Amino acid sequence: MRLKGKNIRIPLNTISVSYNDQGPDESPVIIFIHGFPFNKSMWDGQMKELKENNRVIAYDVRGHGDSFDGGKEDFSIELFVSDLIELMDALKIDKAMLCGLSMGGYIALRAFEKYPGRFDSLVLSDTNCIADTPQAKEKRMKAIENINENGVEKYVEDMIKNLFAPASFETKLSAISSVSEMMKKNPADSLCNTLLALAARKETCSKLTEIKVPVLIIVGNEDKITPPAAARLMHEKIENSRLCILKNAAHLANIESPDEFNEQLKMFVNYHAKKTLSHSN
Ligand code: MLT
Repeated sequence: MRLKGKNIRIPLNTISVSYNDQGPDESPVIIFIHGFPFNKSMWDGQMKELKENNRVIAYDVRGHGDSFDGGKEDFSIELFVSDLIELMDALKIDKAMLCGLSMGGYIALRAFEKYPGRFDSLVLSDTNCIADTPQAKEKRMKAIENINENGVEKYVEDMIKNLFAPASFETKLSAISSVSEMMKKNPADSLCNTLLALAARKETCSKLTEIKVPVLIIVGNEDKITPPAAARLMHEKIENSRLCILKNAAHLANIESPDEFNEQLKMFVNYHAKKTLSHSN
C-alpha cells in the first residue's frame, strides 16, 4: 500500500532514505532530485503547485537531508542512480518524469542513459552534461580541505555567495536563509564524499542526441555555476527540448524565481509531457 505524506522512511540499498510523496494515486509521476548540498525541501514550492494533478515525489539523496546516514560506500553518480531506481522499484513506479537541479540533473541524465525505458520526460534545471575540468576538480579538493579545517558552517558561508543573484541578497533574504540552513544540516563527511563523487563524474554530453523524450531545460540567466551556455549546449543536442532562461535568477532558479519557474514547469507538464507520462500503480 502506498504511504502518502512527508518524511517517509524507506530502506534502500543498505541505507534509509527519506522522501515526500503527495498527490492522487492514479496520476502521472514526477520525481524531483535536489542539488548539492541541499535536500528534498528545496522542491516544496513545485510539489505544492503540481500535487493536485500529479503524484509528486521528492527524496533526500544519500548523505543529504534526512537520508544523512549515507552508509559506508564511496558515493558516485552511479550509486545515486541505483538508489533512485531502487526507490522507483520499491514504490512500484514503472515510469516517471524526472526533474533535477544541478547534481539532480547529473543524476537524471545518467539515469536516463542507463535506464531510458523508465523515464518519459525530463526537466533539467541549472545543470550541465560535462565532466569536471582539472580546475574544477582542484576546487573540489580545496573545498574538502576547507570543510575539514574550518567546518561546514564556514563552507556554507563561502558557497552561498555564488548561489544567488547579487540583487537577491537585498530582496530575498528569507529564501537565502532557509537554503543556508538546509546546507548546514548536512554532515561534513557526506559533503566531502559527495564532492569526490561530483569530481569523478563522467560526461553525459555524448549521449544527449539519443534522448528522444520531451525535455525542458531551465536555467537562471545569472547562474555562474552551470551557466546559460551549458544549458544552450544541451538544448542544441537534445532534439525534443525546450530552453527557458529565467531572468533575475542564478543557480537555484526554482527558489529565486519560483513563479516563473513554476509557470514553465506546469506548462511543460501539461502540454508537452502529460500525453506520455504513465500512471503509478
Ligand atoms: C549543485 O547545485 O548540485 C552543485 O552546484 C553541483 C556542482 O557543484 O557541480
